[in-house]
Amino acid sequence: MCGIIGYIGKKQAAPILIESLRKLEYRGYDSSGIGVISSADGKIVFRKNKGKINALCNLLKFSPLPKTTCGVSHTRWATHGAPNRINSHPHVDESGQFLVVHNGIIENYEVLKDSLIKKGHKFLSQTDTEVVPHLIQEYYKGDFLEAVKKAISKLKGAFALGIISSNHPDVLIAVRVGSPLIVGLGKDENFIASDVPAILEHTRRIIYLKDEQIAVLTKERVDVFNFDGTKVKPQVHNVEFKVDCVEKQGFAHFMLKEVHEQPQVIQHMINTRIVRNQLKLDGIGLSDKQLKRINNVVIVACGTAYHAGMVGRYAIELLANVPVAVELSSEFRYRKPIISNKSLVIAISQSGETADTLAAVREAKKRGAKILSICNVLGSSLSRESEGVLYTHAGPEIGVASTKAYTAQICMLYLLSLKLSLVHGTIRSGEFKYLVKKLKEIPALYHQILKDKSNIASIAKRSSHFGCFLFLGRNINYPSALEGALKLKEISYIPAEGYAAGEMKHGPIALIDEYRAVVCVATESDIYDKMISNIQEIRSRRGKVIAIATAGDEQIKNHAANVIYVPKTEQLFTPLTVAIPMQLIAYYIAVKRGCDVDQPRNLAKSVTVE
Ligand code: G6P
Repeated sequence: MCGIIGYIGKKQAAPILIESLRKLEYRGYDSSGIGVISSADGKIVFRKNKGKINALCNLLKFSPLPKTTCGVSHTRWATHGAPNRINSHPHVDESGQFLVVHNGIIENYEVLKDSLIKKGHKFLSQTDTEVVPHLIQEYYKGDFLEAVKKAISKLKGAFALGIISSNHPDVLIAVRVGSPLIVGLGKDENFIASDVPAILEHTRRIIYLKDEQIAVLTKERVDVFNFDGTKVKPQVHNVEFKVDCVEKQGFAHFMLKEVHEQPQVIQHMINTRIVRNQLKLDGIGLSDKQLKRINNVVIVACGTAYHAGMVGRYAIELLANVPVAVELSSEFRYRKPIISNKSLVIAISQSGETADTLAAVREAKKRGAKILSICNVLGSSLSRESEGVLYTHAGPEIGVASTKAYTAQICMLYLLSLKLSLVHGTIRSGEFKYLVKKLKEIPALYHQILKDKSNIASIAKRSSHFGCFLFLGRNINYPSALEGALKLKEISYIPAEGYAAGEMKHGPIALIDEYRAVVCVATESDIYDKMISNIQEIRSRRGKVIAIATAGDEQIKNHAANVIYVPKTEQLFTPLTVAIPMQLIAYYIAVKRGCDVDQPRNLAKSVTVE
């Protein structure tokens, strides 16, 4: 969602603020802006515009910024008020002394706004954010930090803020409550950012601000305080990402690059997590004794991570014989879930910042559950709030549509199911070894699928005119169908539904005619014949079938004109192989339709508000 960058140093700030902001584009946004302190007269100057960062750059050509060494920039994903220039950030108080960029939602802004209006403040936008500069101005008596502290003590909700003041041109203040914000330490320059990749080019020394912390940056130093005023000594992390992780490296889109990274992501996980046929789940945070006490598992997640969780349920129940419920975080947090101190709650999140998943975890903790998270982003809020963290180490995922993070989550869930099955004594050593061997084959199978992607591309392109898609799968590939439909709708905007194939007759069959395409997961399995029956039912209603089948299955050609083969693997692991054709079908259709694959409309990479 919204992205924040801040710079204070000796260099010209505006180009850094714009270029770094571009690296946050992947988070999803609809407008952008920049606010600086003019080096000449110490005044605040800002520019903002609706649309992409290029629209802001065009505006800057006609209306350039003054020379500056301190400022903030922002990408906005509209929550309160339409995506237009006035609602874009930054926002300033009417005296022009305080300028704010914000990520998150200020829940009590209406009450605050009413009382500020009564005091004579004038508002221009419909945003929740605009109350912040006005509040700071209201409390300002010469001490910038004090005024910010007083103002934020009135705010309810989740927010990350970057604040500058014309009265204090050598200071940049950052505040974090709920929404992510980091500080980057440089030489004679310091940064704030919503995410590490944005400032990687400038520094690798990072402070992950914790909730309810304020950072006061000058070009020489950074002081961090808790909200109660106590000064803290923050941990400085040396981030090891390579800069090329956040570049396309010759691929047309980040999504395509990330699809191709899956063999190495899974290979890395296998190499580091299975050592001499022993599982090495460092970070799990729970002893074998504690894992053995667990009598039920609840998985909470959103979006693609939720689909990975559904695959996890099949695996854990099959291998470890422990009952598993998979819950959408946004639903879980408002129910009265039955959780005890013998429950293990597994939170799955690529970003580790998804507001609903964080809230679900807090709810589960209140009820005594142990939290184990499966997360990609190091140092994220989720990882800090969990007893254990299994990092997927898939590297930065820039495409909004999740690909490599999804298969990495699934692979981690297989490893975790194997671990639980060992602890619960539900797996024989021979079966364990066999499954580990099969899992180790996955990266090679991925290379085979990717080598043959031209077939997937041509089927996808031939199908790109269909106005509606149905995705069917059964058993462990029911989540694959849901994920296939999600990928397609996310990036091509074609209505797509994922269904358990056995449910087809209970509704979706009404959709089938010659204008619909149906993607059927028909890989080798105990219920293969049942899927073939479904395919026949679709064909007799003139629906166009695209079948994903196991290599060597010639019979499927009698039933489907379009077949995508995936190499044979253990039935349990087929969601890993099926994922790649699903991703590529969506990708090639979206490209053919001229869609913005990496930054689909209205979507955000990390949904940091409810
Ligand atoms: C957004 C993203 C999805 C993602 C979901 C959950 O909707 O666009 O790709 O699956 O959030 O995000 P998380 O970071 O918690 O996995």
